[in-house]
Amino acid sequence: MKAIEGQSAGEASARRPDAIFARERPGTEFEVGPETAHGFDDMVDRSVPFYREIQRMVCELAADFATGGSALYDLGCATGTTLLALDPVLVPDVRFVGVDNAEAMLAEARRKLMRRSSPRQIDFCLADLHDAPVIENASVALMILTLQFIRPLHRGRVMRRIAQGLNENGCLILVEKLTLGNSALNRLFINYYYAMKRRHGYSEIEIARKREALENVLIPYRLDENRELLLDSGFRHVEEFFRWYNFSALIALK
Ligand SMILES: C[S@@+](CC[C@H](N)C(=O)[O-])C[C@H]1O[C@@H](n2cnc3c(N)ncnc32)[C@H](O)[C@@H]1O
Repeated sequence: MKAIEGQSAGEASARRPDAIFARERPGTEFEVGPETAHGFDDMVDRSVPFYREIQRMVCELAADFATGGSALYDLGCATGTTLLALDPVLVPDVRFVGVDNAEAMLAEARRKLMRRSSPRQIDFCLADLHDAPVIENASVALMILTLQFIRPLHRGRVMRRIAQGLNENGCLILVEKLTLGNSALNRLFINYYYAMKRRHGYSEIEIARKREALENVLIPYRLDENRELLLDSGFRHVEEFFRWYNFSALIALK
């Protein structure tokens, strides 16, 4: 495993390496089982450009929008990395709710969150976001690299439910992989993305197998489609706060 910029050797060796696409897998479906969950933290670190900086920025923004007595929802919380990072920076009377449809991810999240010492209430909820999540009294909702897995037909309903469940002046932070309207640039940006994965130690075969597994599972929107989706769902303002080729982070204000 190659070291990632900003990551110490100690940190790198403490986590389990992502080798899920290093060997042949039956079928092409992308399933989240214990093996995916165990290698997940290493996977996002090596597969998402500036993952740690995005997490840091999300925490910075969330800290300014979260209000005491309200809730923060992390929709598609995976192994709880964001909630773990948020815990020391948010006032303790903000309740955390982590939602994911993969029990193996939530099991990792519970294990990681056990280490913390704060008295904060943290609830994990095994649920499919296609069923439109129940969101109540929220000051912050996070959807980090998760909307792209929701079938396009359902995205409007999910977004409207999030907007309805947010308190006035609450925010949604949305991080997504994008597609582009210009096919030449789209191809180039995808090439630069695969070059980044190679720099982070993934082999050609791992990159190809993952691409195949995510085909028709991860469906990226264009930036203007995500903006429109948010504005049509009840958000009054949308701002991009991070961009790297085909990765984008937006904050939407209610
Ligand atoms: C790329 S990961 C999210 C990463 C995480 N938010 C982070 O910042 O590290 C996408 C997560 O969304 C979850 N997911 C995908 N489709 C879902 C659905 N329909 N309902 C709930 N969770 C879903 C997956 O299990 C996975 O944990």
